[in-house]
Amino acid sequence: MSAAVQIPRFEVDQVDAAKAALNSVGVALFPHAVASLPEFSSLSRQLIGSPYSYNGGEFRAAQMDSPLSYVKALIRTFGKKGRAVLSADVYEASNVPRHVYLPPHNDMTYRESWPALIMLGTTKVASTGGHTPVFDCVAALAHLSESVREKLRTLGVRITWTVPQYPNKDMEADPGPFATPTGWTNFFGTDDESEVIEVLKERGSSSWEFKDGPEDLGKVVYQHYNCPGTQVHALTGKETLFASPLAFHFAAREWWASKYGGPKSLEDFQHLRSRTHLAGRPDPQFILVSYGDGSEMTAEDVADICRAVDESKVDWSWEKGDAVILDNQLWAHAREPYTGERSVMTAFGER
Ligand SMILES: [Fe+2]
Repeated sequence: MSAAVQIPRFEVDQVDAAKAALNSVGVALFPHAVASLPEFSSLSRQLIGSPYSYNGGEFRAAQMDSPLSYVKALIRTFGKKGRAVLSADVYEASNVPRHVYLPPHNDMTYRESWPALIMLGTTKVASTGGHTPVFDCVAALAHLSESVREKLRTLGVRITWTVPQYPNKDMEADPGPFATPTGWTNFFGTDDESEVIEVLKERGSSSWEFKDGPEDLGKVVYQHYNCPGTQVHALTGKETLFASPLAFHFAAREWWASKYGGPKSLEDFQHLRSRTHLAGRPDPQFILVSYGDGSEMTAEDVADICRAVDESKVDWSWEKGDAVILDNQLWAHAREPYTGERSVMTAFGER
């Protein structure tokens, strides 16, 4: 698909036609269809067969007004929780700070199981920005250079979270916008190595390593989560770029922040970079992305991926009452920076 592609549009009484579109092109838009949460919930129940339980509820999006609190929420999300529950099976969209461009991703694909469908609806649009561009993951794979496509196919992707045994005091004093000083007790709920391993197993970690860090940080655990780099879509047989894990790569976050996030967004990432192992610091806790065998995913490879994804973008603009449903594997989505107030409801599940 190209940027000239129009997202197919439906009325609320055209659910069967919308499902057919969802099963072929993987996206359907319902303009001005949901005036309220109950209306969104009703439409989502007609489109989504079995809901996906997010285990959300601990955080209200309203509390996530700073990057620091967002990262705290993200860290907990990775384990268990993170989104406000609005009603049965409907959640608040994750609300990264307004000035941040949330890079293209497929929801929850950093977990072992993730929803096939995601639906978004809005009753309040931002004053400026805040749109949710969507990205064709089949086209993105085709737009990749041959060498990167083959590496993603054969090696997959590995996300590594490093967490020191004790919180980094330097970072506590000056955490910066994206660093959350934490230690095992806070992150895993225990300081006991064997119990940490139990938590890692529970969270679906593929493998892990413990390495001695500086004395004040104690042992550092490297939690590895392996994901495929491409996947074959079961219903259509199409191969897709499995983009989500890539959004965590520092170089990718910088690429998207530079292009769409504005100066403040970029500044945050530069601060982040200055605090990490990339600047030679000893293992503060962060997310690292490599190929599945642990080999480096270079900035050049990441730029190739970002360009390919960006070339597969289909822009559309939120209007009040719009609802959109996406096949979570065929389409990635992003969130633009915005001003004013914005409210987006989400529902997830299987067909
Ligand atoms: Fe999302």
